[in-house]
Amino acid sequence: MINKLILGDNLEILKTMESETIDLIYLDPPFFSNRNYEVIWGDEGEVRSFQDRWSGGMEHYIAWLKERVEEMHRILKPTGSIFLHCDWHADAYIRVMILDRIFGMNNFLNEITWKRTTTHNDSKQGAKQFGRVQDKIFFYVKDLKKFTFYPQFERYTSDYITSSYNKSDPDGRRFKASDLSAAKPGGDTSYEWKGWSPPAGRYWAYSKANMEEFEQQGRLYYSDKGKPYLKHYLDEMPGNSVDDLWHNCVFQNKAERIGYPTQKPMALLERIIKCSTQEGDLVLDPFLGGGTTVAVADKLNRKWIGIDQSVQAVKVTELRLDKQQDLFSSPFAVQLHKYDYDTLFNQNAFDFETFIIQQYGGVPQNKKGGDKGIDGKMQSGEPVQVKQSEGIGVNVVKNFSVSAKQYNKSLFEKNQAEKKPVGYIIAFSFGKGAVQEVARLKLEENIIIELVTVDNIVPIAKKPALNIEITKSVRTEKDVWEIEFTALGTAEAGIEFYSWNFDYNAEKGFKADVMIDKEGTQIHKFKAGLHNIAVKVVDNDGLENIEVVKLKVNGIVERTN
Ligand SMILES: C[S@@+](CC[C@H](N)C(=O)[O-])C[C@H]1O[C@@H](n2cnc3c(N)ncnc32)[C@H](O)[C@@H]1O
Repeated sequence: MINKLILGDNLEILKTMESETIDLIYLDPPFFSNRNYEVIWGDEGEVRSFQDRWSGGMEHYIAWLKERVEEMHRILKPTGSIFLHCDWHADAYIRVMILDRIFGMNNFLNEITWKRTTTHNDSKQGAKQFGRVQDKIFFYVKDLKKFTFYPQFERYTSDYITSSYNKSDPDGRRFKASDLSAAKPGGDTSYEWKGWSPPAGRYWAYSKANMEEFEQQGRLYYSDKGKPYLKHYLDEMPGNSVDDLWHNCVFQNKAERIGYPTQKPMALLERIIKCSTQEGDLVLDPFLGGGTTVAVADKLNRKWIGIDQSVQAVKVTELRLDKQQDLFSSPFAVQLHKYDYDTLFNQNAFDFETFIIQQYGGVPQNKKGGDKGIDGKMQSGEPVQVKQSEGIGVNVVKNFSVSAKQYNKSLFEKNQAEKKPVGYIIAFSFGKGAVQEVARLKLEENIIIELVTVDNIVPIAKKPALNIEITKSVRTEKDVWEIEFTALGTAEAGIEFYSWNFDYNAEKGFKADVMIDKEGTQIHKFKAGLHNIAVKVVDNDGLENIEVVKLKVNGIVERTN
């Protein structure tokens, strides 16, 4: 599965990614500004990153970003593009000290000016500077000879439409009447058309056969005096080709706003993604934030990877995608620092074996069912068995020592002679009997079997506990009740936020109505009837739990589960 949200410092993650695999990188790093509101999410991961780039001045910030952009350059395909979004704080430094150096001045294509707002605090009365309303987006490519670019168009302004597309067919279809003459002849272009010839020294732009075809199609317009013109229909025009001043990439409506300060409009990312990729291409956003890039990439059928150091950013993006996606959307994976015990314990056995052996550095058996209890091997060939259970007993060890020998007799005997492990058993925990049998085999038969617990391979945590109560209900109108819910989550890691879906449908999945609720209290209005309310709690490790409250509102408010 390619589509992936990854929690972590992007530098570490980028280093693990294969070279020349990405078609487009859009990055919107935190700006160079020592202000607290640059901390968006406020969780541990983000605060760490904030301190990281702020422990020095501009030089430090540039060095921090530069080492990341170097990795981005490496993983970009030769046909790929990068768009780096920044503002006045450091734009000049970023272009000269990072992008020109890493991508080369030759591979610079545009400095896009994006008008991000029309009003700004710093242009209030009494301000001693002009209002700052623009961001910069630097567009570079990896290789000027190989990159791909798909021109974009934007709608004509209404003024232009009114003045140019000022005619319409009886059915209301708007068109512009375009001159039919041309400066140069091109075949059959000197003839008389309904008593009209082109002005002296000019020719018709089309042959007579073409004119006849236009006539038949109703594409000729005649002025009051009978002069012919060609109709250019507004609905057939692509619009103006986009230049490097971007004014119109704004939020489409209130619903698009999730409620965090640095969210970028989907229209902005749509333009960037469409101009540089095609369906199926791979888009990376290493400073994911609330996930605008991956949400748009997903809509446009691109593959995507998003990285953020903040648990909140990753989880909000997950909720956003869950809300946006339907049954036909591609699945995606979320990679956190910790794994949820229940999920691993109950995962499909084959998937679990494959995952845990890979995490251990081994090679999983690629067919289901295993081979006499052997589920994979180490790189050096010793067999690995996986037990997706707790308290593994003595018999498992006994049987494994037999099948390990059968699996590769010569390696078994060689390792036995060299006092090296002959094989590995992975499980959630081992009983006393298993541990004693391992000790006996070692002592009496020189056979070393390693018992490895899952939490030694991957960090595991329990998902947060969650309890929901109805704390108030008031009838506000004849058939309407205002109900207050209080959610209380508990987790060792600490609770990050709650998220609410007031008309939850298990088949459609969790579609958040309130995405980030730090307090855990919500008041919502309900009409008489049956309602399912789902609440998610997310902890500081990104682990989550969900509870569904079933309500019957009918004269009284009754919880039925
Ligand atoms: C300006 S926001 C991105 C906003 C995003 N373009 C959007 O539309 O929602 C920057 C993001 O970078 C993340 N970040 C900062 N340092 C990071 C790092 N070293 N690795 C990964 N993410 C980081 C922050 O947590 C924050 O979510």
